[in-house]
Amino acid sequence: MTSQVNIIAVGGGKGGIGKSVVCTNLAIGMALSGQKVILMDTDFGASNLHALLGINNPVHGFQDFFNEDISNKQSLLIDTGISNLKFVSGAGDNPGSANIDSDKINTVISFIKNLEADTILLDLGPGTNYNVIDFFNISTQNVVLTTPEMTSVMKTFSFIRSALFRRISLAFQDTPEIQKMVDHSNPTHADIETYTTGLLRDRFVEEFPDHLEQLNNIIKDFTPGLVVNRVRSKKDLMTGDNLLKLIKKFLEVEATYLGYIIESDRVRDSVDEMIPFLIKDPQSKPSENLQQIIGALTNTDLQFVKRDGRIFVSKQVRLSSGWEV
Ligand SMILES: Nc1ncnc2c1ncn2[C@@H]1O[C@H](COP(=O)(O)OP(=O)(O)OP(=O)(O)O)[C@@H](O)[C@H]1O
Ligand SMILES: [Mg+2]
Repeated sequence: MTSQVNIIAVGGGKGGIGKSVVCTNLAIGMALSGQKVILMDTDFGASNLHALLGINNPVHGFQDFFNEDISNKQSLLIDTGISNLKFVSGAGDNPGSANIDSDKINTVISFIKNLEADTILLDLGPGTNYNVIDFFNISTQNVVLTTPEMTSVMKTFSFIRSALFRRISLAFQDTPEIQKMVDHSNPTHADIETYTTGLLRDRFVEEFPDHLEQLNNIIKDFTPGLVVNRVRSKKDLMTGDNLLKLIKKFLEVEATYLGYIIESDRVRDSVDEMIPFLIKDPQSKPSENLQQIIGALTNTDLQFVKRDGRIFVSKQVRLSSGWEV
């Protein structure tokens, strides 16, 4: 194995916008629909995903990734009580563990890439530092979340830009002049005039024409999916469209719109009760919203029904090209 495993990371720069809640319920929905799913918390230092799953004290956590004594890393997979769904905790509450170095990040990344599953979901922490972005960029399907608030939209835009510029920077590791221009983590080196892809391309045309095609391909291959959370009105729904336009205009990134989730007390209550909202009431409005998003991610139409305390799933696969009439 395992380069074929589907990795979905849920990111978005701002804290508290619902990344963990959405990621958890996406993982549950996919597991219920028959996929073998692993949900992983990468928010080291401030992890709380276990609580959303109703797990009080995970048996394994952050330190265990680096513990030589655990020869079989598969034992880090924790049972969730939901069939097909395993969980990897980042808990450990070590002060400072959010600042792990890039060697340790690489250890965790290779752990993730060697997991056996149909889909791995990565819950990311807030912010746009490389510890977060590098997890985002190993995924095969990038999901970005925003709420309709302007501050959240701006942070999600910055998050997408950071992810794209990091991709470009890593791709040109062997060309230090380009890396210096793109890696804005070093303000004394970085060229602050290249903060959009249009401006960056102008510089490539002038100075690095041989690398222009590679730059264009990196931009073309980056196609994140957008989810708008905490929607309260029709006006809020426009957020998705506006952000897509912004991304297209300044970054030339073709993001797709995956769907939205309404603002609902059911979501907040489910967090307090430590029961994911999809399990508690699969026919509620936020659960229906979530099913749409899973549908867009997996090319299926899903319907969840709860009868006598049990959840039943019906699934229809959308045919791709060729057979429509
Ligand atoms: N659709 C919603 N309706 C109502 N409340 C919501 C909704 N989505 C999220 N929330 C509330 O927002 C809180 C924060 O969500 P969550 O912990 O998932 O955010 P986060 O983006 O993961 O934060 P962090 O960046 O700190 O990890 C939840 O505990 C819940 O109460
Ligand atoms: Mg979170």
